Amino acid sequence: MKFNIMTLFPDMIKQGLGSSIIGKAQEKNLIEIDTINIRDYAYNKHKQVDDYPYGGGAGMVMQPEPIYEAYKSVTSKLSNKPRVIYLTPQGKTFNQEMAMELSKEEELIFLCGHYEGIDERVIDMIVTDEVSIGDYILTGGELAVMVMVDAISRLIPNVLSNGVSATTESFDDNLLEYPQYTRPAVFMDKKVPDILLSGHHKNIDQWRREQSLIRTYNKRPDLLEKAELSEKDKKTIDKYCKL
Ligand code: ADE
Repeated sequence: MKFNIMTLFPDMIKQGLGSSIIGKAQEKNLIEIDTINIRDYAYNKHKQVDDYPYGGGAGMVMQPEPIYEAYKSVTSKLSNKPRVIYLTPQGKTFNQEMAMELSKEEELIFLCGHYEGIDERVIDMIVTDEVSIGDYILTGGELAVMVMVDAISRLIPNVLSNGVSATTESFDDNLLEYPQYTRPAVFMDKKVPDILLSGHHKNIDQWRREQSLIRTYNKRPDLLEKAELSEKDKKTIDKYCKL
């Protein structure tokens, strides 16, 4: 997967995605993250990329030409046109399903906005998807794109060293993950549940499923409505939750 990120702050992206699992995934060439500095495509000698909004009002608007030229610098080398995702609070809210869908693409282009917004004409011309990471306003799209690249990359084969963990964690089946414990077996008088020390894998799996169901019921009941539940799962919820 290649991520092309058009931004005014490439260092922010490089630093944010350069370490830990995503940094290692780049070293191993499992993913490639290319930043395109929109300012490199500024039209005037002062390298200015924004201007006052027509019609007046507060703030500055990012001009269309540098963004279009930055976009052309990516796509002119390609035979097919990748999806172009504009990070904006006006977009569709990002979720695990969207991360899974996007992880199947070979190449993606992201556009990070700043200031009061981007000239609408260039959005109309190049953007295929508008995505928000939640109902709050950030100062720019950079943190949002980092969230998306992280969530998408961990779904790409071999990015997580433990192959199972990408699929067994919260949300893939609309259930939250069961509680996890490690040594010591007793911490400040609190014991790890006996069943986890029993070595009985079938019982452990059953306990974990029950814990997932109970947790989802208590913390995110909205997710349970979308989860595929067996008759046994429904009985578990009746037994432990609907008191
Ligand atoms: N840019 C500013 N706020 C944003 C948000 N919530 N999601 C994505 N991009 C943004």
